[in-house]
Amino acid sequence: MSFSALATELAELETCGLRRTRRLLQSPQGAHVTVDGCEFVAFCSNDYLGLAAHPELVRAAQEGAGRYGIGAGASHLILGHSAAHHALEEALSGFVRLPRALLFATGYMANIGVITALMGRAAAVFADRLNHASLNDAVLLSRARFRRYPHLDLAALERLLAASPARASSW
Ligand SMILES: Cc1ncc(COP(=O)(O)O)c(C=O)c1O
Repeated sequence: MSFSALATELAELETCGLRRTRRLLQSPQGAHVTVDGCEFVAFCSNDYLGLAAHPELVRAAQEGAGRYGIGAGASHLILGHSAAHHALEEALSGFVRLPRALLFATGYMANIGVITALMGRAAAVFADRLNHASLNDAVLLSRARFRRYPHLDLAALERLLAASPARASSW
């Protein structure tokens, strides 16, 4: 795509009110934040539990950086699965009383990892149209048959399921 075509596309997004820009967060995450020099009450972060700036977690991160350094250095399957990751996985699996837990760095990566591991060409996935983009990307990557139904329309979902030739899950 040429630069002028890109500029046209950006202008169209602007006209439709769809052009997104990044705001400058100048405070820690929390209920009260400073954005672009102004104070706001934040309703749009994922820091639901207020843990991002919790003093104990900040202290633990500082201590961890001192002990393990910054960055995993490699993927978990190569040389990036540290004792700290392992201890956290074990603590989390104990917390939810399940045999194992697996850490992902982001929610996006968790959805990509889990869905591509569980789904394949023979599978069919039925998804609400307003699902998070990571779920859509994961299904496309898995190559499963992808059917989307209007948001919360369970009657439409039932019709899609009834018409699907996909076999029932084998696990
Ligand atoms: C349902 C859902 N899945 C995945 C994500 C992506 O998570 P992350 O921003 O950690 O990649 C989000 C983010 O808000 C989400 O709400």
